Formats: sequence, structure tokens, C-alpha cells
Amino acid sequence: MAGSDKKLTAKLVLPDSKEVQLPVTVGTEDEHAFDIRSLRQDTGYITLDTGYMNTGSTTSAITYLDGEQGILRYRGYPIEELAERSNFVETAYLLINGELPTVAEREVFGRMLTRHSLIHEDMHQFFAGYPPTSHPMAVLSAMVTSLSAYYPDSLDRNSSMDLHITRLLSKVRTIAAFAYKKSIGQPLMYPRNSLNYCGNFLHMMFAVPSEEYEISPILEKAVNQLLILHADHEQNCSTSTVRMVGSSGANLYASIAAGILALWGPLHGGANQAVIEMLEDIKSSGTDYKKFLDDVKNKRDNRRLMGFGHRVYKNFDPRAKILKKMCDEVLNHLGVKDPLLDIAKSMEEVALKDDYFVSKKLYPNVDFYSGIIYRALGIPTNMFTVMFALGRLPGWIAHWKEMVEDKDTKIGRPRQIYTGEKLRKYVAIEQR
Ligand code: CMC
Repeated sequence: MAGSDKKLTAKLVLPDSKEVQLPVTVGTEDEHAFDIRSLRQDTGYITLDTGYMNTGSTTSAITYLDGEQGILRYRGYPIEELAERSNFVETAYLLINGELPTVAEREVFGRMLTRHSLIHEDMHQFFAGYPPTSHPMAVLSAMVTSLSAYYPDSLDRNSSMDLHITRLLSKVRTIAAFAYKKSIGQPLMYPRNSLNYCGNFLHMMFAVPSEEYEISPILEKAVNQLLILHADHEQNCSTSTVRMVGSSGANLYASIAAGILALWGPLHGGANQAVIEMLEDIKSSGTDYKKFLDDVKNKRDNRRLMGFGHRVYKNFDPRAKILKKMCDEVLNHLGVKDPLLDIAKSMEEVALKDDYFVSKKLYPNVDFYSGIIYRALGIPTNMFTVMFALGRLPGWIAHWKEMVEDKDTKIGRPRQIYTGEKLRKYVAIEQR
């Protein structure tokens, strides 16, 4: 287990030549960190690390990620194996509880998820209150916050955590599908207890009361895999937000709603929507994609190749590898020929040989191909980030739970270096 290794310390020499010893913390995968928890108290100094590029905010036993090697593991299990052999519900259980469930545990967990899939009927009125043009991420975050109003016991940290967790996992799926139905003006489809987690989601998204809806096993498998690939990614922007908000004592629903909002940005989960919009733009404007790449390299209008680059991966994103293969399989199976896929593949091929992208270690990330698969499944572009949120939910929950259960947790409160005016006297308005 991670912990301060008494034998390892680092020496820091301050400008006045005073020396301080910093203990070194070592993780199970031999990651090393200077433990600076008493730095300010001992020296008066703080560290400055914009974007937290070198800052570990916590120790965590949930996900291991090695960006240089392109490794991603949930609770020790490689993402490739989970995507191939597990399903989303089992992976969610693994992330939240630390172990793969036994047959009996999976059965109980599945039953709980089924039983909590309905939302309070009064909440249906909320959907009616939004304009049809509303982005579903706005609706989703508001609805998740609202769940804390319907389950006020969630404000008490001593109430059953398992119950809130299963409620959330089950109801977010219903809310996501309802938000979509509302946006296209179709009647809301209630969940069906006979269906499993992903099948039920597809039913609520695509069934209509007037006809039978048959769930395609291929679609169901694709949704399972997509959700597994998004299920956790250690201390990213939205997960850190969930932990930060939760560290104030905010309830689970409020903390997750904050994570949903952090995910929405185009540099984070919103990138899957931005990728498709970029590809559509190239196609509809008839722009040569090579010219688009030149504009990116010249930073014209701060343009970026969306779906490329990652703060942590400086090698291939292992999720992107799986998704590229999956993209071909799903499109072939559905008989979909998507011209955007051709553009994406050509751009990837050129970018991977181009010095600009190579030297900056920019590779396709999870969002580069996921949007094309969502499109083939019939999921509209503005729902892509909602799909990401649905997938990331178990990761957020696992981190919230780990944070709550950790006796070392303190309210998140970074310091700053002030660069503003020094003390000055108030000037009366007539003298300004
Ligand atoms: N296209 C063109 N140039 C890029 C890109 C890109 N997609 N990403 C980074 N760069 C350049 C950037 O301009 C900078 O160049 P320079 O050194 O000349 O100033 C250099 O690479 C480093 O970029 P950075 O913004 O300092 O790197 P970061 O680690 O802060 O940003 C990132 C990571 C993901 C925000 C960024 O790569 C990006 O904006 N990518 C496009 C958006 C995207 O696909 N986001 C989804 C990430 S994966 C899903 C998730 O987990 O959120």
C-alpha cells in the first residue's frame, strides 16, 4: 500500500540556505511524490502549480493510469479485459466496492438498480419547463441536483450510502433518456424491470408507445463497452470537482451534479460533441482536412484538433485504440457508411506522422472515435456528453465514497500567490 517511506526523503534548500527534509510517498506501482503537507508550516512557502500538472491531490486505490506506457486499470484490472469480458453494471460495482461481485452480489446489485429506476412523477414537470433547445447537460445537472430535494436524507452523511449510490446510478440513466425524449417531443418511456441496465437505457431512448422495440444485442454490447471505457479516469477535472465539492460536506447528488457541469466543457467530456462538429464543419464547408490541420498547427483562431491530446497520455490513449476497432465493427454490423469516419481516419493518419503532433505527443483520445459510434447508434450529437456522464458516474461515485471514508480528508482549499495591489487608501468618488 502507498505510504510515507521512512527511508526515502528529499532535501529542499530554501533561498536562505535553510534545509528541510520532505518525506517521499510511494504508490503500489512505484509512483513517487514529495509529501509537502507540512511545508508551509515548516517554511512559510507554498508550491505553485497552475493546472495541477505536478500535484497529487490524494492517494487513491481506484484507478491506475500510466500515460507514458498507455496503461489504464480499474482496481488492477486492465481496461482492455474489462471492455472485452465485463459489463457496465459489474464494472460499476468493481469501481465502487473494490472487487468484482460474486454471482450473488451481482444479482443483488442488479436488482437494486432495477428497483430504483423510476423518478418521482413530479420531476416530470421539470422536463416540461425547459425549452426544446436546452442542452441535455444543463437538464441532467439540474435534475441530479433536484434528486437531493426528493431524497433529503442524503443530506445526512450517516444515511445509507449504498441506497443513494444505487438510486443515482439507476435514475441518471432514466433522466438522460427522458431529457432526450423531451428534446425531440416524444412521450417519455418508463423503464422496464425485465430489461438489464443498458437494454433498459436503449428502450427508454428509442422505444415509442405505438410499436414494439427490439433491443439489438450489438447495440447493447456497444453501449456497455462505451460506458466501461468512460467509467473512471482518476483525478481528471470532473472527478477532482466531485471530490472538491464533496470535501465541503456537500451531499452525493450535489457533488455529482458539480462533476457533470465540469465534464461539459469542450476540453473535457464536451470534446466528443466538438469532434463531430469539427468533422461536420470540414465536410459541409468542403475544406480540405489537410488545410484544417495546417490551421491547427498555425494556431489559427486558437483552433485545436479536437479529440487529440491529453494531459496525462503521452502515448496512445488505450481507450482510443479499443474505440477505433469498435467503430469499424459497429458501423460494419449496422451497415452504416459514415463519411465523417473517413475524414477522421485520414486526419489521424496524417497527424500521427506530422512533426507538430508527434513532437507534442498528441495522439487520439477517447473522444476521437466515440462520437462516430454514438452517431451510428442513433444518439444525437448533443447527447454525447450525457453518455460520457452516464459512463463516468461510477468513477465519480467511487471517488466520492473513497474521499468520505478517508479519515485524512480535509476540505479542499488551495492557496494562491497574490499579485494585486498593495495596501492603499479608499478614495472618495468625487476625487477619482
Ligand atoms: N490540437 C492542437 N494542438 C494541441 C492540442 C490539440 N488537440 N492539444 C494540445 N495542443 C498543443 C497546445 O497548443 C500546446 O502547444 P504549445 O506548447 O505550442 O503552446 C501543447 O500542445 C500543450 O497543450 P496544453 O493545452 O498545454 O496541454 P494540456 O495538457 O493542458 O491539455 C488537453 C490537454 C486535452 C486539454 C488538450 O490536448 C486539448 O485541448 N485537446 C483537445 C480537446 C480534447 O480532445 N479533449 C478531450 C480530452 S480526453 C477526455 C477527457 O478525459 O476529458
